[in-house]
Amino acid sequence: MTRVALFISGGGSNMLSLVESMTGDHPARPCLVLSNRADAGGLAKAEALGIATEVVDHRPHKGDRAAFETELQSVLMRHSPDLICLAGFMRVLTEGFTSQWEGRMLNIHPSLLPKYKGLHTHQRALDAGDTEAGCTVHEVTAKLDDGPILGQARVPVEADDTAETLAARVLAQEHILYPAVLKRFVSGDKTPLYLP
Ligand code: GAR
Repeated sequence: MTRVALFISGGGSNMLSLVESMTGDHPARPCLVLSNRADAGGLAKAEALGIATEVVDHRPHKGDRAAFETELQSVLMRHSPDLICLAGFMRVLTEGFTSQWEGRMLNIHPSLLPKYKGLHTHQRALDAGDTEAGCTVHEVTAKLDDGPILGQARVPVEADDTAETLAARVLAQEHILYPAVLKRFVSGDKTPLYLP
């Protein structure tokens, strides 16, 4: 069984969809939900499911990313994960951390990468007049929102969309795409999955 650590910063809806997928003959199981914020709504959801949780607060490190990542790594080691899934984890990870997990860390990003790396992806898609939007699951490398693409799902942009309505449409696809990519990845299949 592949042991999966899930990193969150907020509500954790992607974390939940991944956790719910890892049952039966799925070759992976969740071993940890870790948040950089003690108030992340996803922590209580993970606890309710009987999954170990940890909080590693970045703020005491006052911008010292290396010190934050050293603590992250030591807390992580207590749970012996084989793979990390970033699922709405809103901290930038440096090469010091990503290099230790290269090939063993996935991320979901709410845009059709390589478009709109970083924040405010939905507003940027609307501002650009894009007619479609979507989400991407990729392997994490040292470069932000870069790394080999493992899957993408597309949605139409509607004429009356706001960033919020578009985000909700994309999020529904994230909940389908990420579990599908995780299962393929753990089974050794890194060829990109394109939905729908
Ligand atoms: C998701 O839309 C995810 O793609 C995005 O944050 C949201 C988390 O929602 N991630 C990023 O923007 C990463 N840069 P969730 O906590 O409900 O899964």
